[in-house]
Formats: sequence, structure tokens, C-alpha cells
Amino acid sequence: MTGPQQSSERHQVLYVIACGSPLARHVGRLVELAHEDGWDVCVVTTPDGAKFVDRAALARQTGHPVRTHYKNPGDVDVLPQADAMLVCPATVNTVNKWAAGITDTLALGLLVEAQGLGVPVVAVPYTNAAMAAHPAFRAGIARLAEWGVTVLFGEHVVPLHPPGTGERHLHAFPWAAGLAALRDRCADGTLAEAVR
Ligand SMILES: Cc1cc2nc3c(=O)[nH]c(=O)nc-3n(C[C@H](O)[C@H](O)[C@H](O)COP(=O)(O)O)c2cc1C
Repeated sequence: MTGPQQSSERHQVLYVIACGSPLARHVGRLVELAHEDGWDVCVVTTPDGAKFVDRAALARQTGHPVRTHYKNPGDVDVLPQADAMLVCPATVNTVNKWAAGITDTLALGLLVEAQGLGVPVVAVPYTNAAMAAHPAFRAGIARLAEWGVTVLFGEHVVPLHPPGTGERHLHAFPWAAGLAALRDRCADGTLAEAVR
């Protein structure tokens, strides 16, 4: 276990939500950087995201179990409440469903609820140029941004790649960008208000 949750001081809790993209394989890098920023990190994956991650390694790294599915009725919560959420990588599928208010995965349920709770959320989509061109996705990111989600998307964040070449671009992914956006939200008081 390497996270700040080992100390007795209470750290703010960040849910890192990883969707079904090969980028999710490297989400441990994001956990590492989030720990450096002082977050107590919990990883949640979508069911497709779960295919890419090493659950045991992430559980060791964060000190929390990786969650993917809704708990059964009566089960206790195994994760502390989130003070903020970072969806990274965010897939086209999850963005589209999230913007429509669909909650058929634990990740989406948490994100839809976060809106009502005023929990700050940052999303960093990762996809190819063809999928990113779909009007539902473009409308989805615009709607999420309108509703207060910080969406980091565009050539200045992650240049779009041709279909089938995603694996080649993983090394260049700017893992720190989402955390920097969260820091900005802390600085403007959004986070402090939400977790007051
Ligand atoms: C090998 C592989 C790589 C994929 N990479 C991406 C990706 O980078 N971005 C994306 O939006 N979808 C990608 N997909 C498609 C998503 O996994 C698919 O839409 C899935 O339904 C997403 O589910 P989720 O949003 O619940 O994670 C990929 C699929 C496969 C099989």
C-alpha cells in the first residue's frame, strides 16, 4: 500500500473511474500522481474497463478494493464517500449514457448521483477520431460541460488518433491534466464547497 490513506490525517477522497479503453491498463500512473497530490484514491471501473485493469495491483496501490458492480441490497459500502471524481479514460459509450442520465453501471450511477450531490467531476475522454466525430458524443460532452462537469477534450489535450491505432498513443497520454483541472476546481472553491 502506498497511498496517503495510511496516515491518520484525513485525506480527501478521489474516485478514479476507468472505462473500457486500453488506456485503463495504465491507470495506476494516475493513482500515483493523485497520491502525490494528497488524494486518498479509490478506483471504480465500468464492466468493460475491468477487462483492462489489474484489480489486485490497484487494490494494493490504493488500499481500497476496486469496485465495478453495484453492491447487493444490504451489503455495506466498502469505499469511503467521494469528495471528487475523475473519469479517465472516459469512453464514448459512458459519456453518451452519462449525458442521458443512464445509470446501468456502478460508474454511471456514481456520476449521475455526483451531479445531485454537487460533487465536482472531471472527465478526460479517450477515443479515436471516428468515434469522437459522432454527434451524440459531441452533444454529450457539451451537455456535461453545461452541467458543471469539467471535460478535457480536444487536440490541445489528447490529439485524436485514427481508428485502430489507440494502443500506439497510450504513452503520450497526459495523465496529469485531469488532476490539474481538479486542482483548479479546488482553487476556485468548488471542491471546498462541495465537501464542506
Ligand atoms: C480493444 C478495445 C479498445 C477500445 N478502446 C476504446 C477507447 O479507447 N475509447 C472508447 O471510447 N471506446 C473504446 N472501446 C470501445 C468500448 O470498450 C465499448 O464502447 C464499451 O462498450 C465501453 O463500455 P464502458 O463505457 O461501460 O466502459 C474499445 C473496445 C475494445 C474492445
